Amino acid sequence: MCGNSSRRSGTPLASSKVWGRSMHARTPVGSGLSSHDVAKPPLSRFLERCHAEIAGDSTGAVADYIPELAKADPNHFGISVATTDGYIYEIGDSVVPFTIQSISKAFVFALALEIVGAERVESLIGVEPSGEAFNSIRLRTDNRPFNPMVNAGAIACSGLIHDAEGSGAFDRILETLGRIAGRTLGIDEAVFASERATGDRNRAIAYLLRNYAVVKGDVDAVLDVYFRQCSVLVTARDIAVMAATLANRGRNPLSGEQVISPYAVARTLSVMTSSGMYDYAGEWIYRVGLPAKSGVGGGIIAALPSQLGLGTYAPLLDSHGNSVRGLKVCVALSSHFDLHLFNRSGDVRNGIVAEYDIGGVSSRRNRQPHEQKILDEHHQYCHVYELTGALTFGVIEYLSRRLVQQRPHSQFVILDFHRVPTITKAAGQLLAESLSELSAVNTTVILCGIQSQSLLGAAINKLLVPPSKLRKFVLLDEAIEWTEDQIIYRFDGYGRLHDPTTLPEQQLLEGLTDGEIETLATLMEPRTYQAGERIVGAGEPASSLFFLQSGMVSVKVPNGVRLATLVAGMVFGEMALLEDRRSADVWADTLVQCFELPLDAYAGFRAKHPQIGERIIRNLAVLLAKRLILANTKIDLLTSS
Ligand code: DON
Repeated sequence: MCGNSSRRSGTPLASSKVWGRSMHARTPVGSGLSSHDVAKPPLSRFLERCHAEIAGDSTGAVADYIPELAKADPNHFGISVATTDGYIYEIGDSVVPFTIQSISKAFVFALALEIVGAERVESLIGVEPSGEAFNSIRLRTDNRPFNPMVNAGAIACSGLIHDAEGSGAFDRILETLGRIAGRTLGIDEAVFASERATGDRNRAIAYLLRNYAVVKGDVDAVLDVYFRQCSVLVTARDIAVMAATLANRGRNPLSGEQVISPYAVARTLSVMTSSGMYDYAGEWIYRVGLPAKSGVGGGIIAALPSQLGLGTYAPLLDSHGNSVRGLKVCVALSSHFDLHLFNRSGDVRNGIVAEYDIGGVSSRRNRQPHEQKILDEHHQYCHVYELTGALTFGVIEYLSRRLVQQRPHSQFVILDFHRVPTITKAAGQLLAESLSELSAVNTTVILCGIQSQSLLGAAINKLLVPPSKLRKFVLLDEAIEWTEDQIIYRFDGYGRLHDPTTLPEQQLLEGLTDGEIETLATLMEPRTYQAGERIVGAGEPASSLFFLQSGMVSVKVPNGVRLATLVAGMVFGEMALLEDRRSADVWADTLVQCFELPLDAYAGFRAKHPQIGERIIRNLAVLLAKRLILANTKIDLLTSS
């Protein structure tokens, strides 16, 4: 990645407009959209319109205080948006290279925080907006730079990295900028030489800083690092990816690499918000409301945390040294889509997608009547919270109040996280405290759907809940089944799984006389299956049904998701009465004994005993109706809570 591949500003890189996924759709009638347009996401069309409208604005001037910069083509104009899931939009001159200039300051500040630590950096460089131009020589009353976004603060950051890395300082910076952009970057040697030759104001600032011990050692070496970092060649696409890396908490959305720590990202976005646009910062945050950073090379980056990064390139600058066209793109995008940072709607209650006790929602384990009776009488003992989205402090604060309100009733609390991608540190802390308090009042905490490697997993590992009071399951269904077992156990309803049941106890044979059942039994074959054995397979001919005498079987779709678990007294394969092929696998979870009733034998029997056949079909209808009611109850609960 190191090594300066010198290229010249303004010479387009190989075209890469095809980046990103796309979709194909029918042309809506009268939309005026070509099939080509419809194939593009709507934001593409907005950016194209934006580009077309703003391209006509030729106000401002190309920077010339660094002579080499004056060679930039004032007509160049590129826009790129990178999303945190790695999708890239590009419009116009998005692959024309230009020098990064002050945009580098944000990333070099983050790198300084990573290399020398926040305490050292914050002891030398402030975080207050200066309200002055980027190259102001004025320092704070304590002779410290106002912030790392103005030249004085940026030179101090380069100095800190030079202190730590010595002659390797710039290579470290270039390598890091490359990882943030997602490709190897080089520098424009001509711009570097031009700035070095004309950088007396920065030289004055640097010597002033050395005078106040903010910069140490060889000032020219430090300035060379600073001038080189400003001369790094990027494109609008590169800086969009760099902004998206900030928006993605330091993880590059293309490479997936965690390049900057979330701590450094938060601090960098803060100073970008307060000082990134210099003496225009107040107006900027008021009108656009996004952390941003501009450079005299004509680039602007803006980051919408957890969503996207924007990069624009247009070398015509306004009096503040900000790209005129780039500013307009940011204002248009922010106002059109209401992206203002502080205009966030969000109801913390939406973080709980469903809340219920196990009265309406049971596990997929079918219970024997006496077990079901216990669950019907004591369903309030277990409360389930299905959570969704990135969990913030506000959501967990709301959840913690719900948990307190439910506390008197529930001895078991199930929290399902399978729709939760992440949790903030603060939320993780509050969650740990809430669950620890729950276990302290003898409530068993059951967690499911947690990816152990995730932030959530890390937060959960910090829980101070005694192991006896904490259970973890992958699936919510398993968590509910385990809790049902505990409640049944507590009320001595735990049937001995292997106690054989007789055919008259079979649900499907309800209402048949003993004589009729005996006759039917003559057609059946006793079967025994070992735990783990597949009894029937999806797609096989449905040629028989099985009456479970003892043991437990699970019905699963081929991908392994459990549809139901059945125990003694229940029937499986009964859909053979209605369909030709098996729609799911049935596995023995334990040693299983059952009776198999072949359909062809049954058909002859039914012809002779139509009333029995009718009775069995009616029982089957009752069974299926019960399952439908259970499924509807769950949907109702999930959609109403
Ligand atoms: O130090 C300078 O003056 C330039 N290398 C960078 C200034 C800059 O980009 C200001 N941004 N708007």
